[in-house]
Amino acid sequence: MNDETSGLRNNDQTPENPFVLFNEWLNLAVASELNDPSAMSIASVDTQGMPNVRIVLMRRFDERGFCFFTNFESQKGEELLVSKKAAAVFHWKSLRKQIRIRGEVEPVRDAEADEYFNSRPRGSQIASSASKQSQPLPDRKEFEDAMKALEAKYEGQDVPRPAHWSGFRIMPLSIEFWDDGEFRTHDRLRFDRDKLDAEWETVRLYP
Ligand SMILES: Cc1cc2nc3c(=O)[nH]c(=O)nc-3n(C[C@H](O)[C@H](O)[C@H](O)COP(=O)(O)O)c2cc1C
Repeated sequence: MNDETSGLRNNDQTPENPFVLFNEWLNLAVASELNDPSAMSIASVDTQGMPNVRIVLMRRFDERGFCFFTNFESQKGEELLVSKKAAAVFHWKSLRKQIRIRGEVEPVRDAEADEYFNSRPRGSQIASSASKQSQPLPDRKEFEDAMKALEAKYEGQDVPRPAHWSGFRIMPLSIEFWDDGEFRTHDRLRFDRDKLDAEWETVRLYP
């Protein structure tokens, strides 16, 4: 892309706050991506330091950070609860843009998890309640039977959020914006802060 809309090219266009630029790029992605413009890859590490990565949907963000929802007993759930750190990347093919995030992780408050869970389609509520995410599933019928049992149990009632299902907030210490340039002359601009309540500093990087 590397045009005037990227906000990266000239030093005098550099926004002071990375969330403003993030929001602009996400809006461009919402308008142009075929599917899941809020999909991001989340990297975690296990207790041996072995990295792990998978895609989740970023469901909300504000100046505190970027939230996604998942099963806290899944592999990612266990890894993030222990290490309390994550890296994330958004890549929007239609825009030829990438945003990389590194930061600290904390669970969202119960009220926030409830609010999001209650907004989900009932089928998703049942499926996430029945899923022992990341555990071996010897026979798919086991999962289907568990969903049927929950549908019967909660017939005519709201499905309660299971205690093991909630959200994480990635609170960024570093956010890097990457914008495609002709002949690999990409623009890279990184916002860093050494702690969460510090001011952001920006650094431009060679492509
Ligand atoms: C487009 C896309 C969106 C996804 N969104 C989520 C999500 O929001 N939450 C989630 O738990 N898993 C999501 N998944 C599934 C994860 O990639 C992953 O398979 C699952 O969470 C188990 O990961 P784990 O074993 O590392 O915990 C998504 C997968 C794709 C391809």
